Amino acid sequence: MKKLFLAVLMLGPAVGLRAEDGHQLWLRPHVSVPVTVVLPARTSALLATARQELQQGWQGPAGATITLSLKKDKAIKYDGFRLSAQGVQASTERGLLYGVFELLRRQQIGQAPEAGLSNPSYEHRLLNHWDNPDGSVERGYAGKSIFWRKDSALVVTRRDQTLWQQYARANASVGINGSVLNNVNASPVILSAGYLGRVKAIADALRPYGVKTYLSVKFSSPVLLGGLKTADPLDPAVVKWWQGKVKEIYQQVPDFGGFLVKASSEGQPGPQDYGRTHADGANMLADAVRPYGGLVMWRAFVYSPSDKDRAKQAYNEFVPLDGKFRDNVIIQVKNGPVDFQPREPFSPLFGALKKTAVMPEFQITQEYLGHAIDLAYLAPMWEECLQSDTYQAGPGSTVARCTNGSVYRQAHSAMAGVSNVGLDRNWTGHDFAQANWYAFGRLAWNSSAKSAQIAEEWLKLTFQNAADATPAAEAEWNAKFLTPVAQLMLASREAIVDYSMPLGLHHIMSATYHHYGPGPWWAPSGMRADWTPPYYHQAAANGVGFDRTRTGSDAVSQYHEPLASQLNDPATCPDEYLLWFHHLPWTFRMKSGRTLWDELALHYDHGVQQVRQFQRTWDRAQPYVDAERFAAVQNKLRTQSGNAVMWKDACLLYFQQFSRLPIPAAVEPPM
Ligand code: GCU
Repeated sequence: MKKLFLAVLMLGPAVGLRAEDGHQLWLRPHVSVPVTVVLPARTSALLATARQELQQGWQGPAGATITLSLKKDKAIKYDGFRLSAQGVQASTERGLLYGVFELLRRQQIGQAPEAGLSNPSYEHRLLNHWDNPDGSVERGYAGKSIFWRKDSALVVTRRDQTLWQQYARANASVGINGSVLNNVNASPVILSAGYLGRVKAIADALRPYGVKTYLSVKFSSPVLLGGLKTADPLDPAVVKWWQGKVKEIYQQVPDFGGFLVKASSEGQPGPQDYGRTHADGANMLADAVRPYGGLVMWRAFVYSPSDKDRAKQAYNEFVPLDGKFRDNVIIQVKNGPVDFQPREPFSPLFGALKKTAVMPEFQITQEYLGHAIDLAYLAPMWEECLQSDTYQAGPGSTVARCTNGSVYRQAHSAMAGVSNVGLDRNWTGHDFAQANWYAFGRLAWNSSAKSAQIAEEWLKLTFQNAADATPAAEAEWNAKFLTPVAQLMLASREAIVDYSMPLGLHHIMSATYHHYGPGPWWAPSGMRADWTPPYYHQAAANGVGFDRTRTGSDAVSQYHEPLASQLNDPATCPDEYLLWFHHLPWTFRMKSGRTLWDELALHYDHGVQQVRQFQRTWDRAQPYVDAERFAAVQNKLRTQSGNAVMWKDACLLYFQQFSRLPIPAAVEPPM
């Protein structure tokens, strides 16, 4: 046993793990076993992909015959599939491809190929790329855009095509079936003939993997690009312009998915510029794409400086429009009512719009969670949102069920994730950020999936070395690598909440453009109040937190009972959301018996201690990881550890000027 252990230490970790493993994501090549693939009697690029994947990845019995068959089957929804010992059955070609990837995944992680049905929770599972035509990526921390670049932007190279193909393959392997290629703060040039040529080339590369192409559009494109005097959605010339543009797009990309629109939001033009509503704007575009089967995803991320409480605005603007949208419009709603903070309660729009399709938007890129420096596994955050009970149609009306068609009848369902992908060799900047891309796809496929299981799958696919998987080596690997590193991942998001914005605090980051590090004091004169942290934390001698109770901004009333009353009362409001909904004295008695001030300090300190624990865990994982990824993650954890201390010290010293209370003895004193 001891000998074997030594052998594993010396050989196991290195075998099969090469520097390019980071680039391969969770799809590392394996020595394949021969397999015979029987395809339906038709040819298509997608079927060819499915066959190729099986042939290059098969790890099952040598010489097996696997049949991919297309059949109508009422139990199969969208791109779902049935697995059996004989192969995969589906009603769409995409379904066959997803079945193939599921089979291969199970083989690789050593799970028995369970026979049975697998249906996606959402019809459309999309990445949103905030990529600009000049190649920059808004809130991107993994290098430049994989789609666009400044020079010779429109020349498509072989390298571009290979990269797009690898990207599409990674998406297909987790069931992602759509990509929005450009930033929601959209440039009108994306709709010009030159750019549409490149869109076609991208669509051609993504199609064999079942990934549909979508574009973000600027609402004023008819003016900026078309030379019209107005972009009023009810103006016949504007309607005609969009119809023409849509026709042009579909000539290039016959299976084009549709438009994503950020309008009348953060300075972007929109229907409100012409005294029209979101419904007027969305419906005009929806009518233009309807003949081709296209969709419009209309974002509800709206707020203005005059709002007393930014968190209430989207609900106030959209609830009166419920039922007024065409059925090929989906309202795209960020998970929380403010903006992708490390923790927010769910947006009250989920479940409140009953006659309108609503889709959750999650942020995979870590704008507010430490960019590509902090290790943050985000599945627990998304799971928390999806499993939150809105009570809108009785108990059990979770955000997932209110958006995936289980509770309300809606023509379409979808989930979007703001991508963290860029040109970096490992795609996502931080090696562990790949897990968030993976997890987003898995949760969009199965909104009841568990973060822990997804983390284990990802770790096995990404780091386990199949070649040395003797039972003893595997047990060793499970105990020394898989279990502790999965625990690290699962604790990582909460650690960030603790050292940055615990107990419901939010938007207290440095609010200068980068959104990195602490800045609860940041309020330059003349700045819009709703862009400054003091607007959100309201720290003063009498306490801290935003009063959103019935006697405050009354945001609680946007939630359904019994939740509204539960949130309204500090005695029943969960600690995680306490300062989101309440302004409380520093000496307020918490459920733990401690004062609010002490509790706050302990959370900050706990976050710091957690990151130090992550460092120790990772250091012990060294024998099981290739040198390149080991060092990269180790370095980032070191930086994160210092940053966590900075967050803690900065926030505690800042708040202490109001609380005037001592730092509790159990907390490491500020440096
Ligand atoms: C955040 C982010 C912006 C982005 C916006 C959006 O405010 O900082 O960069 O454009 O969200 O989602 O539209």
